Amino acid sequence: MPKKTVEDIDVKGKRVLLRVDFNVPITENSGVISDDSRIRASLPTIKYLVDHKAKVIICSHVGRPAGKVVENLRMAPTARRLSELMGLPVSMASDCIGQEVESKIGALKEGDVLILENLRFHPEEEANDADFAQKLARLADIYVDDAFSTAHRNHASIVGVAKYLPAVAGLLMEKELKVMGKLLHNPERPWACLIGGAKGSDKIGLLQNMLKKVDMLLVGGGMAATFLKAQGYEVGHSLVDDDQLDLARKLLQEAKDWKVPFLLPVDALVAQEIKAGASTRVVPTTSIPAGSHIVDIGPQSIELFCSKLGRCRTIIWNGPMGICEIPQFAQGTRSIARFLSTRNATTIIGGGSSAEVVQAMGLADKMTHVSTGGGASLKFLEGITLPGVEVLLDKK
Ligand code: 3PG
Repeated sequence: MPKKTVEDIDVKGKRVLLRVDFNVPITENSGVISDDSRIRASLPTIKYLVDHKAKVIICSHVGRPAGKVVENLRMAPTARRLSELMGLPVSMASDCIGQEVESKIGALKEGDVLILENLRFHPEEEANDADFAQKLARLADIYVDDAFSTAHRNHASIVGVAKYLPAVAGLLMEKELKVMGKLLHNPERPWACLIGGAKGSDKIGLLQNMLKKVDMLLVGGGMAATFLKAQGYEVGHSLVDDDQLDLARKLLQEAKDWKVPFLLPVDALVAQEIKAGASTRVVPTTSIPAGSHIVDIGPQSIELFCSKLGRCRTIIWNGPMGICEIPQFAQGTRSIARFLSTRNATTIIGGGSSAEVVQAMGLADKMTHVSTGGGASLKFLEGITLPGVEVLLDKK
């Protein structure tokens, strides 16, 4: 059932608590935001609220301060960046609840924007504490959630607060749900899912769900080592989820039974050490040298993956093909990004590091959708109802 959005309610003159995900990388000491794409992604909702004369109270978390004040995880840099992007003053509160915040909100005029301090400075946020949620709720008349990328978290500002206020989706949340939902329920075929990255245990659930839906599954990056080892191949010192080996074997067997092509890299770039400048060579994945690390997919794998993906009408990609933070090991990831950007097909980048690469390469506009949610998009595609979406009002 589609969710009510900010466009379905009257916000004029109302205090609107807007949950965004401004969890952006901020350089320690200098306060410089190295990737502001999450702030940009919420601009349509913020502009909508300002244009419709709401009193906009923005809240978010940054980082994982574990319930304590951490100086370099304050919201001030995001407030400054938002103000630059909007071309409007954005004021800052010194906390996210309490008397001082309430007086600041009392002084807001229609169209004003205030940012609250990092929600996670209070341990009650992540504990979804009811009292904390009520304190947040009394700041506003309406709750708008534009933070798809945190909708998998059962936190006070995402789930708890929605019990006490009319709760609707922001425009980014609406877009994410629409695009990702279509992918789950009505994709143009053939459709393929390409999964990479290192966190194999986080993604096994996704692979299991995807196997039942897609026409082709491709696995690269760190995860591939687990599947190669499950087939009995040497993977050297590459990171392997040993407790997932049985599951990996089961998935490979299921793919065979259901006749879903399940592609792994056929060659890999290996290095003796994981550091810039390390000497590397390309080897078949059936003969990875014992003392080496797989750091990227090889040229034949790039060619194979691109030729298979080139036949698909819908492609979802989550996770890099190698250790792409080190430019020398980023060829596979960058080649896939470039290839997808040229496709006349639905291309969805499922958040996380692959989204960062696509943004950094300036290719985001050439994809159908770059999701802001890494963990959230994985859970969503696993078919799990996200708690932060469930609490929003249904559109009737
Ligand atoms: C993210 O970066 O994926 C979201 O902001 C959620 O952050 P978290 O994983 O710390 O909850």
